[in-house]
Amino acid sequence: MLMCLYGDWMILVTGAAGYVGGHLINRLLEDEKFADYGIIGIDNFLVGKEENFNLIKKDRRVKLVYGDICDKDIDRLLRDVEIVYHLAAISGVVFCNNNPEEALRVNFWGTMNILEQTLDSVEYFVYPSSAAVYGNISGSVAREEMPPNPLNTYGAMKASCEALCRAYHNSHGIKTTIFRFTNIYGVGTYPKWRTVVVNFIQKALNNKPITIHGSGRQKRDFIHIDDVVEIYKLAINPKANGEVFNAGSGYSISVKELAEIVKRIAEKQGTGVNISFVDAREAKEREFSYDVSKLRSLGFSPKFSIERGVENTFIAVQNLMKKGFEEYQKDIG
Ligand SMILES: NC(=O)c1ccc[n+]([C@@H]2O[C@H](COP(=O)([O-])OP(=O)(O)OC[C@H]3O[C@@H](n4cnc5c(N)ncnc54)[C@H](O)[C@@H]3O)[C@@H](O)[C@H]2O)c1
Repeated sequence: MLMCLYGDWMILVTGAAGYVGGHLINRLLEDEKFADYGIIGIDNFLVGKEENFNLIKKDRRVKLVYGDICDKDIDRLLRDVEIVYHLAAISGVVFCNNNPEEALRVNFWGTMNILEQTLDSVEYFVYPSSAAVYGNISGSVAREEMPPNPLNTYGAMKASCEALCRAYHNSHGIKTTIFRFTNIYGVGTYPKWRTVVVNFIQKALNNKPITIHGSGRQKRDFIHIDDVVEIYKLAINPKANGEVFNAGSGYSISVKELAEIVKRIAEKQGTGVNISFVDAREAKEREFSYDVSKLRSLGFSPKFSIERGVENTFIAVQNLMKKGFEEYQKDIG
């Protein structure tokens, strides 16, 4: 059930109270390119948080609405929407595997509903896909032209939604842009879906050992949330029309190296940290690198090296703990 009705808002951000949504809205508000736009954010608070809403700068151009992206009446809110950032989703891989019907409803049907309900006015539709569409390509370089081969329902739904975007692009001329994000890190994530970066920082700040599953040699690409919001802005560009982009930093780092970076930063602040190793969760340790040359050709260059990004996140988590944000003070197992 939608709780309020607004007219003439030009940018829609679904999943506005989520991790990326709050950061994105703030950045759009700061950007002169979007100065003439109103922003409407929708979220049903499945995992979105009041804090993320509160973090959004007070600005008369933003309206935040409690609503479900699967609601067929949602079009009452969406007249004159020109740009859609469709971020709302159930993002937990385990949750999607265990609740495939609900994940299908929100992730697939919800995406189609937003495409349908904005069809009359939308010009740009930006969709965050995931590296999960590639599945297991251990030892290879992930490139956009590879066929999707997901390993889980989350990845399968991301691949299906990419196909939906292509269909609406082909049949209705909507300027769709798909970004296949790698591991996004920074503060603000839903605790259960938190990335390894914040988990390691939280361990260090709570004086717990950092635990690595397996050898720690498996490499991953990490991208800082501030770089992610810059990528989203690049979608409003003729070169991005109808395109798919790998969206990562382009630098892979092993989990062991990451733990060592966190340890170094903690030690600089006077906190000793132990790193311990336990059995791998999966028999095979997957590793692939991410080709982001296409994204670079769109003008993207990450501002954050992993060292700088982890330090920035460390300080942000530390400040949230000082302010009494309990979720960062709990032992996360
Ligand atoms: N965070 C990452 O590392 C990452 C990586 C790749 C892709 N993505 C994708 O980027 C998008 C944003 O990610 P995030 O990390 O901010 O996720 P998030 O889970 O923090 O945010 C998603 C938001 O959608 C809301 N939502 C869920 N179901 C809804 C519904 N039916 N109606 C309205 N709102 C609903 C949730 O309450 C939440 O606030 C997602 O589509 C995610 O799959 C994220």
